[in-house]
Amino acid sequence: MNTLMNRRLVLASRPEGMSIASDFRLETVATPMPTDGEVLLRSVYLSLDPYMRGRMSDKASYADPVAINDVMVGATVCQVVESKHADFVKGEWVLAYTGWQDYGISNGEGLIKIDANVMQPSYALGILGMTGFTAYMGLLDIGQPKAGETLVVAAATGAVGATVGQIGKIKGCRVVGIAGGAEKCAYAKQTLGFDECIDHLADDFAEQLAQACDNGIDVYFENVGGKVFDAVLPLLNTGARIPVCGLISQYNATALPDGPDRMSMLVATLLIKRIKMQGFIIFDDYAPRYNEFAQQMATWLASGEIKYREDKVTGLENAPEAFLTLFNGKNFGKLVVQVNQPL
Ligand SMILES: NC(=O)c1ccc[n+]([C@@H]2O[C@H](COP(=O)([O-])OP(=O)(O)OC[C@H]3O[C@@H](n4cnc5c(N)ncnc54)[C@H](OP(=O)(O)O)[C@@H]3O)[C@@H](O)[C@H]2O)c1
Repeated sequence: MNTLMNRRLVLASRPEGMSIASDFRLETVATPMPTDGEVLLRSVYLSLDPYMRGRMSDKASYADPVAINDVMVGATVCQVVESKHADFVKGEWVLAYTGWQDYGISNGEGLIKIDANVMQPSYALGILGMTGFTAYMGLLDIGQPKAGETLVVAAATGAVGATVGQIGKIKGCRVVGIAGGAEKCAYAKQTLGFDECIDHLADDFAEQLAQACDNGIDVYFENVGGKVFDAVLPLLNTGARIPVCGLISQYNATALPDGPDRMSMLVATLLIKRIKMQGFIIFDDYAPRYNEFAQQMATWLASGEIKYREDKVTGLENAPEAFLTLFNGKNFGKLVVQVNQPL
């Protein structure tokens, strides 16, 4: 019998500043075979997400780093190609965490079955999975949006941000997005239905944001940090809520931001305006509410109230270059790699 070969991308070096494609190395090795109680999984889709930049670094964080020469971690949508596990049959779709490679072995723990007749399997990595869940819980539980309030969301056309803004519209908010470039801003307004979208690359970004938020900001969904947050801070209303979801502008930083130090201004604003600013890590904090989210989001998707855009890249070998687009804004929608064709 021919040996099945596994292409895999391992972490070759820890980046200093912006990660580069050569921080990853493509290897081809023999695929291990499942033993009793195990399944062999073949990746069809791999999710690429900003949190992976943190795993490339050995700085202290909420999760352990990937070791040098280990396969990069990541959520995948796979099909079972061989089963020695009573609960799985060949051809079944599952959500797994097999990382940046063609094949993975699992004992079944943590695998979630996907019914491909009910949803497009890749959606389990995005709108019906981690990023949709993040938008839903961060906005509704921490943001507590109310009809008539102004919601501002950064990275507004991305996987999380696009969903946050659309849920905000469903809840009756006035939604102002912040995105990089005219094409993304037009999409936010024309397709996602946001009331305004401001280009953070414009020289007068802060002035434009202030004009778009003439009644101040009641909920700011933070995905970005940096100069975007600097522009938001003076516009926050008394009683505003800030779900702190991510700070992508800082993930490749090697030094503290330029001065002056804004820390005391931030804390004074939180105090004087009684603002709630709360970070969250989606599955650590909200796993018990996953079913509630999944049911609601499936309903919104089916009715067309929520629209979803994927940015699909073909070929495992293209994952490193694709990953970098999350940090230069070239991705447009939920970034997913098609690793293999379905069986
Ligand atoms: N807390 C959690 O559990 C959790 C879970 C999932 C995601 N997150 C966080 O949510 C955020 C969004 O993630 P996502 O998966 O939805 O990614 P995404 O928005 O689909 O892609 C990243 C986007 O960030 C924007 N960006 C990158 N660098 C930037 C910079 N220096 N300044 C301003 N904008 C910049 C770009 O959009 P523009 O072109 O529009 O600038 C880019 O397209 C990230 O911070 C991520 O870490 C957190």
